[in-house]
Amino acid sequence: MADQATYNYKVVRQFSIMAIVWGIVGMTVGVYIAAELAWPFLNFDIPYLSFGRLRPLHTNAVIFAFGGSVLFATSYYVVQRTCHTRLFGGGLAAFTFWGWQLVIVLAALSFPLGITSSKEYAELEWPIDILITVIWVVYAVVFFGTIMKRKTPHIYVANWFYGAFIITIAVLHIFNNLEIPVSLTKSYSVYAGVQDAMVQWWYGHNAVGFFLTAGFLGMMYYFVPKQAGRPVYSYRLSIVHFWALVFTYIWAGPHHLHYTALPDWTQSLGMVMSLILLAPSWGGMINGIMTLSGAWEKLRSDPVIRFMIVSLSFYGMSTFEGPMMAIKTVNALSHYTDWTVGHVHSGALGWVAMVSMGSLYYMIPRLFNKEMYSMKLIEIHFWLATIGVLLYISSMWVSGIMQGLMWRAVNADGTLTYSFIESVEAMHPFYVIRMLGGLLFLAGMCIMALNVWRTVAGSEPQEAKIPEPVLAH
Ligand code: HEM
Ligand code: HEM
Repeated sequence: MADQATYNYKVVRQFSIMAIVWGIVGMTVGVYIAAELAWPFLNFDIPYLSFGRLRPLHTNAVIFAFGGSVLFATSYYVVQRTCHTRLFGGGLAAFTFWGWQLVIVLAALSFPLGITSSKEYAELEWPIDILITVIWVVYAVVFFGTIMKRKTPHIYVANWFYGAFIITIAVLHIFNNLEIPVSLTKSYSVYAGVQDAMVQWWYGHNAVGFFLTAGFLGMMYYFVPKQAGRPVYSYRLSIVHFWALVFTYIWAGPHHLHYTALPDWTQSLGMVMSLILLAPSWGGMINGIMTLSGAWEKLRSDPVIRFMIVSLSFYGMSTFEGPMMAIKTVNALSHYTDWTVGHVHSGALGWVAMVSMGSLYYMIPRLFNKEMYSMKLIEIHFWLATIGVLLYISSMWVSGIMQGLMWRAVNADGTLTYSFIESVEAMHPFYVIRMLGGLLFLAGMCIMALNVWRTVAGSEPQEAKIPEPVLAH
């Protein structure tokens, strides 16, 4: 069992490289659909290129293919390093890698063909849903199996966040996808009407909370202290952060369904829980940022730590904006507008993608046993990404608020001031700016791919040795 003396880095390397590949694919589709919104002729009347089919391809590619691969890679890395043991289950981790890639390829084929269950972020049809369930259960076995055989006395807080992400996603995926198949490519949800909406947004919001947040907070708790070379600011705060966050998130789903047929009290409960959610979110952000206290000069010299700290600033911003948008009267303006899309991307690009990039830049030299090819390119990537997000979200704020105000403007005689098409015309310049912002962000990602390619080429990766167990006193 010579193998047991080293960490399993192979699967981490595979997921890390594929994260970059899928990031480029997903963001390219994002830029394309952004261009379609500005210049609709770009669908060329080809059904496979229509906005309605490419949009779920974009969301699934960036969330599950890019985000998912980063989550697998980092969780496998962190759980081994903090438990001082090799991944549990021999070939099971490799099974999750190949299985997940298969799911992604099936998704990339089925969406352009128009095969969809039409539930947002859960569009995949039932055979793929079953495949995901199997892979996810194996993932849980590998992750928790590794924790069970750990050689360290306690479970580091990053693993709590990864663990909550794995368990909650299993529950959400299974219950939201309960459906009755009518053919190999079509099924209908077992829920109907308002129950269907309620279950869908219980899923949708917690996909944000657990897929796009909890696992990435796991990254924050491991990679920020590592890169900063300092212990986490407050371990006690991290425990309070964990329990408060997982308890509160699960109630907030109804803020997606304000002013609908959902009972009014559930909408108000969702609103109040969303407001409360500000506290744990900011507690976590402060814990991450303050980890750098005493080492602030690193922000000037180290572009990797800059990715991490800027991502936390966007996390703070989007978790301030979210609770505000959950207030019913604010939502009356923001809902259905581009403001929501801007909010989504301040979380998705600013927080999720940037903390992922920081974590990948930390891991890759260690996984491949070689310094990054160029720090200068990381620096350029950082600026392209930052300017890209800023262009994206500021254009969406302006266009979203303008849209909302134009739709509700009425003349003295009670007729609408603007027709719908006038509001669409007014959006055009902002759609162009958003597309340019996305293009910059994508360019940064391509530079990352080049930098990683030059690092990996000719490297001789060696598996890192697991430290000897510390003797108990
Ligand atoms: C180059 C970067 C990106 C560009 C240009 C881009 C562009 C777009 C566009 C044009 C839409 C459709 C908006 C609409 O329907 O009005 C969209 C939706 C969405 N994107 Fe992106 N995107 C990018 C990156 C990402 C990333 C990295 C993530 C997640 C990690 C993400 C998550 C989403 C989500 C969740 C939606 C659905 C939003 C909603 O329903 O409100 N995007 N994106
Ligand atoms: C305290 C934290 C947060 C709260 C309370 C919150 C609240 C909200 C609200 C009220 C909406 C608009 C619902 C609507 O009018 O339809 C929304 C949409 C959304 N938020 Fe957040 N948000 C938070 C953090 C985040 C973060 C960090 C991300 C991404 C990483 C994110 C991703 C999304 C997505 C993807 C949607 C669009 C869902 C859809 O309609 O397709 N949110 N959020």
